[in-house]
Amino acid sequence: MGKPKLVISTGAGISAESGIKTFRDSDGLWENYPVMEVASADGFRKNPELIHRFYNERRKQLIEAKPNPAHMGLVELEKDYDVYIITQNVDDLHERAGSEHVLHLHGELMKIRSIRNPEYVETLDKDHLETTPATRGKNGDLMRPHIVFFQEAVPNIEPAIELVREADIFVVIGTSLVVYPAAGLIQFVRPGVPIYYIDPNPASTAGIPGVHVIKEKAGKGVAELAKILGHKINFRNWKK
Ligand code: APR
Repeated sequence: MGKPKLVISTGAGISAESGIKTFRDSDGLWENYPVMEVASADGFRKNPELIHRFYNERRKQLIEAKPNPAHMGLVELEKDYDVYIITQNVDDLHERAGSEHVLHLHGELMKIRSIRNPEYVETLDKDHLETTPATRGKNGDLMRPHIVFFQEAVPNIEPAIELVREADIFVVIGTSLVVYPAAGLIQFVRPGVPIYYIDPNPASTAGIPGVHVIKEKAGKGVAELAKILGHKINFRNWKK
């Protein structure tokens, strides 16, 4: 009998304490661009130059950011649980904190992919963060940000649903639960499986019975969750 399966769905809120802005807390503007202009398939077709520039800026911000206690706390929980993270975030902070299983629903900021063949993906390195519409991959293909734009399919939603169906405990951290299909994952939790929702300003989960809301920022909320689960997080042995 393996360890209990702890499935965690995270949104922008878990990276807020790393200094990365959330989406809806900055009144719908991302770095002062209207969301639909810089994160939709139409926006990309209309102005690929702007979109490449927008994501170049966000990559520069990301490499200055560090995982915060919330990310680290989820790594700690891997001692007692099989932890699977499903994230709407495109940052790599969960990976940099050391989480083993991270499934990105909306893409990954540090990756680019071929426009012609979505299976062909390359990871950018710190010294080459910038791309333009003329950027080509090592295979010669024109490349685009490896981001799921609005109006595009979410290829990883099926495996994400499978993970939620198998969860022994389900946790939601730092998401406003307004963007589907990610927001719908909570519906796939088996009856009787405990659900925890960590958010200082939690969205209503009225439709879902038995959600235990921890009304805290992610760092404090994860520490509280660990206590509830009977896991003592020892902050001491964290690599800074
Ligand atoms: N700790 C935990 N949660 C926080 C914190 C914090 N320090 N600060 C803010 N939050 C919460 C907010 O209360 C809100 O519920 O994080 C949530 C952020 O919500 P959004 O900005 O809507 O981010 P998210 O839910 O991840 O957006 C989903 O929408 O724009 C698209 O593709 C984009 O992945 C994104 C998706």
